[in-house]
Amino acid sequence: MEVTLSVKRFDPDSDQHSSYNQDYVVEMEESATVLDGLIKVREEVDGTLALRCSCRSAICGSCAMRVNGQARLACNTKLVDIVDSGKVVVEPAGNMEVVKDLVVDFSPFWDKVRDVKPWLDPEGPDPDPDQEYLASNEAMLDLAGVMACIMCGACVSDCTVLEVDPNFLGPAALAKAYRFVADPRDSDDEPRLSDLNEYGGMWDCTRCMQCVEVCPKGVDPMGRIMSLRDKAMATGYTSTYGARHSMAFTNGVRQEGRVDELSLPVLSKGVFNIVEQIKMIPLGIRAQLAGKRPPILPHKNPGQENVRRIFNRLDKHDNSPDRLEIPTAIIGLASPVVLTFVAIIAFLILQFYWNSESVSGLKPDAYQSGSVEPFTRFSYFHNCFWFYCDPETSGSELVVNSNAEAER
Ligand code: SF4
Ligand code: SF4
Ligand code: FES
Repeated sequence: MEVTLSVKRFDPDSDQHSSYNQDYVVEMEESATVLDGLIKVREEVDGTLALRCSCRSAICGSCAMRVNGQARLACNTKLVDIVDSGKVVVEPAGNMEVVKDLVVDFSPFWDKVRDVKPWLDPEGPDPDPDQEYLASNEAMLDLAGVMACIMCGACVSDCTVLEVDPNFLGPAALAKAYRFVADPRDSDDEPRLSDLNEYGGMWDCTRCMQCVEVCPKGVDPMGRIMSLRDKAMATGYTSTYGARHSMAFTNGVRQEGRVDELSLPVLSKGVFNIVEQIKMIPLGIRAQLAGKRPPILPHKNPGQENVRRIFNRLDKHDNSPDRLEIPTAIIGLASPVVLTFVAIIAFLILQFYWNSESVSGLKPDAYQSGSVEPFTRFSYFHNCFWFYCDPETSGSELVVNSNAEAER
């Protein structure tokens, strides 16, 4: 079988500072893997091609790279299964800096794994030297899946969050964290979960499933991250942004049979977190202007009872902590979208009030003429408000004075 391997090359020592694709045509057996092809190229065609490999048996995890756009183990990927019109595109793993050709720098990967303290911190006194720490079969069965991780970095290569936020711990490190949090012999669950609650931790995963798709060992990193979240909430970490978002999402769907986009951001940021609520106002304005404001008043969704029935059934098997049972429709009324709407109405009322005769006596001459721009009028309202609020200076006379001063 003749195959063209189109390999992405980069040599920091050459004059060419950008990467480029180089095609190698090789004759391969039907049973050959991508790694076999690359080794043939390096040994018979171009000795300058750099790549990492060791076991050639999907055990050591050193040959992860992108093949036809997706992270795979090169030694575990048969050419015949992926060749497209006689061509296979091979690139270095993503989300890590390229050292040379197909070799990437794994330092950030290992730093993040180290950050989650990947070691057991057992409870109680040390057992006798001829004894051991025991864990139940069930616990070890659950852990067996995550212990199959070979630290190849395929999941990290294709993680969509790491692409935009290098601070994210990433699927491999979080799966490793789960391995120790879920181990019944470990006594450090609370501090571990507390650390994972921070920015860049378990709540930053967007559940895109990409890590699940590319993991060659079926570790299911995303599933482990979701289990970490459950454990964090069961431990009592329910006042983080992520936990609140999760509870609000579930509660909204349970009550209304749909995602309530109005109450979701309010509950996620925290109902009394005024600063964060105000920060969302521009988003509310954009939603209003784009005609994408969610409905303000609660409405019944067709099939809502069926969704409730599913929840009731799930509840029978559920051990998670109590949910926030505040009616989401009520919370939605405090959302920035509604607040923006109210602010616009208030502004229009003030405009109307401005044009009415009842305030004409308070307006300085420049304002009386009607030639003042709306923005300046807004400053005038602001001044009025400021002086009326000050017990020392309240009164219409001072309001006029303040504006006369402003004009000067
Ligand atoms: S599911 Fe989460 S961890 Fe996995 S690739 Fe997507 S964002 Fe990354
Ligand atoms: S979770 Fe899977 S893809 Fe990620 S490092 Fe481990 S084995 Fe590789
Ligand atoms: S060479 Fe070891 S996993 Fe591919």
